[in-house]
Amino acid sequence: MTTGQQHNGPAPEAGGLPLLGNIVDFRKDILDAMHQGWKAHGDLVRYRLGTVVVHGVSSPELAGEVLTDSPSYGKLGPDNPLRLILGEGLLTSDDHESWMRNRRMMQPIYSKQALSGMFRAMVESTTEQLAFMERSYPTGAEVDVHGEMMRVTLDIVSRCMFSTDVSRTRDALSPEAVDVAVNYAFDRLQNPFSPPTTWPTPRNRRFQQVMEGLDGMMYGLIEERRAAGTPEGGAKDLLDMLLAARDADTGQGMTDRELRDEIITTFAAGHETTAVTLTWAFYLLSQHREILRRAQEEVDRELGDRMPTVADLQRMPYLLQIFEEALRMYPSAPIVPRLALKDTVLGGHHVPKGSRILVNLFNIHRHPGHWTDAERFDPGHFGAAEKKGRYRFAYMPFGAGPHLCIGKHFALLEAHLLLAALIRRYDFRHIPSHRVVNHATITLRPKYGMAMTLHERRHAPRPAAVPVAAGTTAD
Ligand code: HEM
Repeated sequence: MTTGQQHNGPAPEAGGLPLLGNIVDFRKDILDAMHQGWKAHGDLVRYRLGTVVVHGVSSPELAGEVLTDSPSYGKLGPDNPLRLILGEGLLTSDDHESWMRNRRMMQPIYSKQALSGMFRAMVESTTEQLAFMERSYPTGAEVDVHGEMMRVTLDIVSRCMFSTDVSRTRDALSPEAVDVAVNYAFDRLQNPFSPPTTWPTPRNRRFQQVMEGLDGMMYGLIEERRAAGTPEGGAKDLLDMLLAARDADTGQGMTDRELRDEIITTFAAGHETTAVTLTWAFYLLSQHREILRRAQEEVDRELGDRMPTVADLQRMPYLLQIFEEALRMYPSAPIVPRLALKDTVLGGHHVPKGSRILVNLFNIHRHPGHWTDAERFDPGHFGAAEKKGRYRFAYMPFGAGPHLCIGKHFALLEAHLLLAALIRRYDFRHIPSHRVVNHATITLRPKYGMAMTLHERRHAPRPAAVPVAAGTTAD
């Protein structure tokens, strides 16, 4: 809705300090600050980060309006700190034309049909992860489950992107390097008073070092692949597919810079999001033994001694419901940002051009108008009837509208597979003295990791005995 229409003035304000506004609260715990703002002031709240005006959106209705009205609400502009890492890939491009062109070129790469080729790589990574855990953790040993999930999801995205080149990604894409880059960008997102990137501060230098390592690796791999040409029998992995993708109107492919941006975007958007949700799922299961038992029964009944095929996964709907419910309670991309491209009216309030809009999925997934028992972990929230009757924007962990997550099917497939394989093999028990605190950076992480003990279940198959089952097709 544009101005010219009736409105009741600006949205209720959350208060805040002179000059700084809400910077301190946002930096301390953005989700907590926005949860309190929601409870005190309602579904649309106006905040201030220094001179930057921000609107927090906590209702499904208003969120749907924002995410589907691209002419009024676009991606953040060139000053988006995430661009320092991702360049102008799908996630961060604010140029609608070039975004649409690349989105059209990439859409088939993430189709269910293309995923069937990647499922084999997912199974290989999962089998190796099981073998690694078997070697590293005797039964009863303490494990940081978050670290393990990061390892396996990074391995999956590396294999799907580069096939055999996985080991080469390890240094430039180590968890430490990823942390440096992500924390740097997120800090800048929340604090407009950060020092300029060109100043030679230790933090700037460390960030530049990490990015040089990453860019060197990416451009090296792109050059090698271009030189090698399309493999016989067609594309073997995501990089082949990206290199082969052509604009339907012009026949043009992507430049090296575009490829670099899309590859890094896939890595950034495509591993930690799944890893943290799996971590939360294991934690929630450890707190709800009756739900865990039901999931184990489903896996034992459908899987026997095999690694799952896609057809097996389809016969295990309860496992998927568990993942969906974990994504409801702990949406791994909890805040979806937009920029008001013109003066608009939202929820009856004036929203000025230039305001940032933060669509808060954490609040939306708990909205009392749409959810009962929102604080209770209940996979029953995703039974067939419940799903059918639900308002479309009340649950949207993958976003909504034209920017809906392109990797949604990829994420659901790998998460389903990992849950099945790991639950089949292990009982995960949370260590009660370990503090579980959620902490939103760009993803919703457990602040202190997730310390659990692993207990091997009787009759679980050893990794060496696990064949990569035939029929691993996604349909
Ligand atoms: C549980 C896992 C995941 C969650 C919760 C998630 C969530 C999201 C959300 C909320 C958006 C919308 C952002 C916006 O509107 O600004 C998004 C976009 C995106 N996601 Fe995911 N994602 C997940 C997994 C993946 C995976 C596995 C990939 C790639 C393999 C991926 C690639 C992308 C890309 C490229 C975009 C940008 C799409 C566009 O703007 O056209 N995501 N994701």
